[in-house]
Amino acid sequence: MRVPAISGVLSLLLAAMSTGPALAGDAAQGEKVFNRCKICHTIDEGGAPKQGPNLFGVYGRSAGAAEPGTLDSGKLQETDIVWDEVTLTEWLAAPSTMVPGVKMTFRLTKEDDIANIIAYLKANSPDAQ
Ligand code: HEC
Repeated sequence: MRVPAISGVLSLLLAAMSTGPALAGDAAQGEKVFNRCKICHTIDEGGAPKQGPNLFGVYGRSAGAAEPGTLDSGKLQETDIVWDEVTLTEWLAAPSTMVPGVKMTFRLTKEDDIANIIAYLKANSPDAQ
């Protein structure tokens, strides 16, 4: 009777996993997405800004708080945005729609890429819960 009991538990676990939030991101997948950000951003602690700011610790922080990159428009600093799931989702899909005048021309179009990169940003933000 043990085997059916265990497989019952396993299938419950699998069911629970597959009915989680549809857009729960995967940080390991997000690390691959970050390859597309690297031309303009570093994410290591203390990393230098490039065209955009270093993104270490960005999750949970106020927009524009890091040392500015070479293309910084100053527009993020004028907002009261705090980066979280909601604000990052909006930003990554359409930065200049969210904050007119910003210089990040890159955008992500796939929902799973956005969810995964957010998980990766969060994993590199020690102050994020
Ligand atoms: C072509 C360059 C470029 C690429 C590629 C790019 N960004 Fe940016 N990013 C910028 C610039 C420039 C800014 C600052 C915008 C401004 O001040 O106008 C910025 C700002 C940001 C900010 C706000 C940072 C803060 O401290 O408020 C986040 C978050 C961000 N980028 C995430 C990403 C992610 C994630 C990717 C990859 C999916 C990415 N960016 C790809 C140029 C880029």
